[in-house]
Amino acid sequence: NRKYVIAVLPGDGIGLEVMPPALRCLEAAAKRFGFKFEFREYPWASCIYYQEHGVMMPSNWKELLKACDAIYFGAVGDPASVPDHISLWGSLLLFRREFDQFINLRPCRLIPGVPSPLANRQNHTIDFVTVRENTEGEYSSIGGRIFEGTSRETVIQNTVFTRQGVDRVLRYAFELARSRPKKKLTSATKSNGISITMPYWDERVEEMAKEYPDVKVEKYHIDILCAHFVQRPHTFDVVVGSNLFGDILSDLGPACTGTIGIAPSANLNPVSSKDDSAKEWMPSLFEPVHGSAPDIAGKGIANPIGMIWAGQMMLEHLGEKDAATAVIKAIESVLARGGTNLLTPDMQGKGTTQSLGVAIEQEIINVVL
Ligand code: NAD
Ligand code: IPM
Ligand code: MN
Repeated sequence: NRKYVIAVLPGDGIGLEVMPPALRCLEAAAKRFGFKFEFREYPWASCIYYQEHGVMMPSNWKELLKACDAIYFGAVGDPASVPDHISLWGSLLLFRREFDQFINLRPCRLIPGVPSPLANRQNHTIDFVTVRENTEGEYSSIGGRIFEGTSRETVIQNTVFTRQGVDRVLRYAFELARSRPKKKLTSATKSNGISITMPYWDERVEEMAKEYPDVKVEKYHIDILCAHFVQRPHTFDVVVGSNLFGDILSDLGPACTGTIGIAPSANLNPVSSKDDSAKEWMPSLFEPVHGSAPDIAGKGIANPIGMIWAGQMMLEHLGEKDAATAVIKAIESVLARGGTNLLTPDMQGKGTTQSLGVAIEQEIINVVL
C-alpha cells in the first residue's frame, strides 16, 4: 500500500511541456511496481502566476509543500515579463533555503546514442556526479547598493561560507566518493584569487580528507577544472563545489556529454525525515538542471529526459529502487535505439517532447530489469 504525495510545480516555459510526459512515466513505473502517486499540481512558482497575483506563490506555500513527500519541479523564469532574480528568489531559491536542501546532486553520464561534441571520448566511460553546495556561498542575500544614481554608486554582495554549511556538503561528497568504485573526490576552488572564502574551503577539504584515507582527493581552480571537464571528463568521479561553481560545472558537464536537456538534479535535505516528529519535516526537490528555455518554449521540441531522470532520482529517494532502475534503463534503451525521428533537436534529431516521452513511458512498462 505504498503511496506518495508529490507536489507538482511545472513552472514556466518548457517546464509546462516536459512535466506531462514525465508524470506519465512516473505513473507507468508506479503501476508496474505496485505503488501509487497522488500528484498535487499547483500553478504557482511561475511567472504566469506572478503576472496575475504580483507574487510568485500564495502565502501558505510552505504548508502546502510540507504536506507532500517530495516536490517535483519543472523550471521557472520568463525574463521577458519578470526579472529573473524576482522569479527565482521568489520560488526555487526560496525552497532550497527554507527547506534547507543543502545538497544539490547532479549526475553526468555519457549515454550511448546521445551525440556528444567530444566525439573522440565516445569509447570512454563518463560517469561523474557534481555535489553542489545549495544554500549559501555566493548565493547570499547579504549586500546592497549605496549612493545609487550617483557617480559613487557601489554594489556589494557578500559570499558566506559557514563551517556547518561547508562541512556538511563536504561530508556528503566524501561519503559518496567512498561508496563509488573510483573513490575519487575533486574539489573546485579558486583560492588563488578569491583569497578569503576559498582558502577556507580548501582548509576544510584537507581537514576532512584525514578522515577518508581511502578517498583520493584532488583540487583544481575552477578555471582549469572547466578545461579538464572538456578535455578529460572520463577522469572525474565525485566533484564537489560551492553554490556558484557547482552551478557552472553542472551545465558544463552535461554539455560535454551531449546536451543539458537530459541532466537531472536532486535538491536534498538528507537529514529531514517524515518519521521524526521532533524535527520539522522539510521535503526534497527534484528538477531538471535546465531552465524554462524561452527560445524553444511552445514548440513541443524540448527534451523531456532531464525531467524524467529527475523523477528517477525522486523514485530512489522515496525508496522505490526497482522503479528507479526501470526508469533509467528505459531512458538508456530508448536512447540506444535512438533514431533521428525520436531524438529531440538538442540531440541532433527531429523528434518531439511527446514522442520521446511516450517511447520512454512504453519502455518503462516493458524493460527487463
Ligand atoms: P535554459 O536552461 O533555460 O536554456 C539554455 C539553452 O539550453 C537554451 O538554448 C535552451 O533552448 C536549451 N535547453 C534547455 N533545456 C532544454 C531541453 N530540455 N531541451 C532542449 N533544449 C534545452 O537557460 P537560460 O536560457 O539561461 O534560462 C532561461 C530561463 O530559465 C531564465 O529565466 C533562467 O533564470 C531560468 N532558469 C531556471 C532554472 C530552474 O528553474 N531550475 C534553471 C536555469 C535557468
Ligand atoms: C540551477 C539554476 C538556478 C541556480 C538559477 C535559475 C537561479 O541555474 O538550478 O542550476 O543558479 O541555482
Ligand atoms: Mn544552473
